[in-house]
Amino acid sequence: MTQVVFVLNGPNLNLLGMREPEIYGDDTLDDIAGMLEDRALDLGLEIDMRQSNHEGHLVDWLHEAQGSGARAVLLNAGAYTHTSVALYDAIKAIRTPVIEVHLSNPHKREEFRHKSFVGMAALGTVAGFGASSYLLALEAVARL
Ligand code: DQA
Repeated sequence: MTQVVFVLNGPNLNLLGMREPEIYGDDTLDDIAGMLEDRALDLGLEIDMRQSNHEGHLVDWLHEAQGSGARAVLLNAGAYTHTSVALYDAIKAIRTPVIEVHLSNPHKREEFRHKSFVGMAALGTVAGFGASSYLLALEAVARL
């Protein structure tokens, strides 16, 4: 059976493509989903791509990833990355590997982005490569 990789996206990422393109690029979330699906096919994986502006949805989906036996989670929690103890706890609470993903490199940006609750609990982080951050994170999953 094909293993599923959850790709969870947090607040404001539904606006990708028109949101600060000089920082986040021109690709929409649908474009990124398409790229991931193509690459996943080569790797023998399946993508389940989701986005929500609500913190609790991301927590529920992390639990669901474990419950459904997903291979891994790629998590771009957007601004919740820097604020959410609930996401930290959820990642710690599940055995499913979680990889933190960012389009931009938060460490090169405002100081409030330097702290990552997600990164403190995740297996690893891919950041700063635009849409390719997601693809690199998927490659990492295939090598786990
Ligand atoms: C982001 C970085 C976060 O600091 C920011 O709040 C986002 C996007 C990224 O992908 O670069 O919403 O997660």
